[in-house]
Amino acid sequence: MSQQRQILVTSALPYANGAIHLGHMVEHIQTDVWVRFQKMRGHECYYVCADDTHGTPIMLAAEKQGVTPEALIERVQAEHLADFTGFHIGYDNYYSTNSPENREYARSIYNTLKANGKIVSRTIEQLFDPEKQMFLPDRFVKGECPKCSAKDQYGDNCEVCGATYSPTELKNPYSAVSGATPVLKTSEHFFFRLGDCADYLKGWTAGSSVRGDGETQPHLQAESLNKMNEWIEGGLNDWDISRDAPYFGFEIPDAPGKYFYVWLDAPVGYMASFKNLADRIGLNFDDWFKPDSKAELYHFIGKDILYFHALFWPAMLHFAGFRAPTGVFAHGFLTVDGQKMSKSRGTFITAKSYLDCGLNPEWMRYYIAAKLNARIEDIDLSLDDFVARVNSDLVGKFVNIASRSAGFIAKRFGGQLAEAVADGEILARLQNEAAAIAAAYEAREYAKALRDVMGLADLVNAYVDANKPWELAKQQGQDARLQEVCTVLINAFRLLTIYLKPVLPKLAEGVEAFLNVAPLTWRDADSLLLGHTIAPYQHLMQRIDPALIEKLIEANKQSMEPQAAPAAAGNFEPLADTITIDDFAKLDLRIGKVLDCQFIEGSDKLLNFTVDLGFETRTIFSGIRKAYPEPEKLIGRKVVVVANLAPRKMRFGTSSGMIVCASGADDGSGLFLLDADQGAAPGMRIG
Ligand code: MSP
Ligand code: ZN
Repeated sequence: MSQQRQILVTSALPYANGAIHLGHMVEHIQTDVWVRFQKMRGHECYYVCADDTHGTPIMLAAEKQGVTPEALIERVQAEHLADFTGFHIGYDNYYSTNSPENREYARSIYNTLKANGKIVSRTIEQLFDPEKQMFLPDRFVKGECPKCSAKDQYGDNCEVCGATYSPTELKNPYSAVSGATPVLKTSEHFFFRLGDCADYLKGWTAGSSVRGDGETQPHLQAESLNKMNEWIEGGLNDWDISRDAPYFGFEIPDAPGKYFYVWLDAPVGYMASFKNLADRIGLNFDDWFKPDSKAELYHFIGKDILYFHALFWPAMLHFAGFRAPTGVFAHGFLTVDGQKMSKSRGTFITAKSYLDCGLNPEWMRYYIAAKLNARIEDIDLSLDDFVARVNSDLVGKFVNIASRSAGFIAKRFGGQLAEAVADGEILARLQNEAAAIAAAYEAREYAKALRDVMGLADLVNAYVDANKPWELAKQQGQDARLQEVCTVLINAFRLLTIYLKPVLPKLAEGVEAFLNVAPLTWRDADSLLLGHTIAPYQHLMQRIDPALIEKLIEANKQSMEPQAAPAAAGNFEPLADTITIDDFAKLDLRIGKVLDCQFIEGSDKLLNFTVDLGFETRTIFSGIRKAYPEPEKLIGRKVVVVANLAPRKMRFGTSSGMIVCASGADDGSGLFLLDADQGAAPGMRIG
């Protein structure tokens, strides 16, 4: 290897209010392959990530779930990490933006920017929800499109006619949080003067840095640079970086009640995660982030967040006295069978459902990698092609090389490889490709790297067919030849494993155990394994059973069922027909107290309640298990019961009455029990 490089790599920080799906996986697989490649090359490389935990959506999601934002983000972080780990994403640190390090860096960056004249304050008018007492982000205002009058459109653009506008232009606006009509209200906001950084950004976006090995690295891909030029030419607006309370985030120094907008502290989360790692393993953080740092810093991101990473972030870093990134690598979006991922069609595939269905994560790593290049193109997951490609490439071409030769070495030669091989050319051919394959990985041209590797596998399979070890095994006096042919094959398999290891780290581990060797590095491709004893072959990878794909689609249809028929917030159910007071009097609503509440075996919807109605105790089944997955927590609380509802015989017994709930949340998932104030006792009539 030439010079050892110091490389810090990140993937974008996923929001802490949603599940990891295969779109996220594209990014983390792309990053992980690159990081593993750099580590195999012997470079000092770290990969950090974190959950992006702040902002209004997360605050409201927590409220809706009846938990604190801290509890929500803690739970989600554990889920995210489990999903990523399940796909063998090898972070050196996975952290949180809601961390002391992040607060520290966000504040100090802000303070320095302010001292450098890059922050201004201005009073703006914004829509305010008078009921919820909060300012509404554009996405939380809905109403009729000012252009085409389509109903229930968001405050920033119309999904029907495509118009973009400001939320104040909506007709009949309403708050998606409470349904109230928003009012205009003024507030002081802080702005980052991005326009003031235009000269610097013109230089940075078009510029390049020198890597640790002396190579030149352009900061942006050509397509990104074009986009940024358009934006810079169009004039850079000041960026609003503050939000008013209530907000889940970091309070701005010397500005009580004002918080950093989530996108201000999110990229700082990269630094925070690295700082946390540096302190833990004894690295000097400043060496990596000082302006003249020799270390390289790379961000892998999706095309939708380029603006933040190629304009705001380098400007923030530079004018706060830190180094800027060495490269921002954007990728396209994942489509499934040629379409945007869709919840109703079962193609909005969560990482968890993929793993739960028993699909091997390395199948997806290989498939995605085989489609990735260094450009910002969308990539399509065609499920049929996925099965065909993995089965043909990984099992048919690659793993079969080992399974067709290992048995003979074990049974006939006690696991011993030949001391020398006569057919050196084919192995030399494989070894000679190492540099080209490495160059392709380095340049993020994974599709090319894997095409090369599979081309080599084809050569090896042709060698198998030409030399037919199974026939040599039957012939007298061909032992030496058989051992030699199989030694060539095992060596070829070892070389291919080295080239595939960034993509298939788990399988490579299995191969290392089978070959009885230390973890393979890129330099191992310079040597061969001769006269060495290998372990018995264990099956390394199965073919994909297409039935698993059906199962995957079904699983995602089911898990998305509540979202399939959303009752958008504010899109309230039409009012029922008018009734008289006599009609109402027919309804006997009573306060009940939950004495016991349990799951019902065989039902994933119902909970079995024992309710004290004062004058009697009832058994009531209620279909709220999804919304209340911990029934024991309901014991002791008050509920509202329709006490004169005719009893209903069900499979599990008779339900005597009904417990009422509020429903119609915007994702269709919410069911909310009603409570009663102090003093309301079991048996009291409601009316
Ligand atoms: N929290 C911000 C990023 C902050 S980084 C300082 C965010 N989060 S996200 O969860 O919405 O997206 C995380 C990453 O996943 C982004 O890079 C985004 O482009 C990527 N993807 C989200 N959906 C995707 C696809 N369907 N396909 C490929 N990547 C996708 O943005
Ligand atoms: Zn419209």
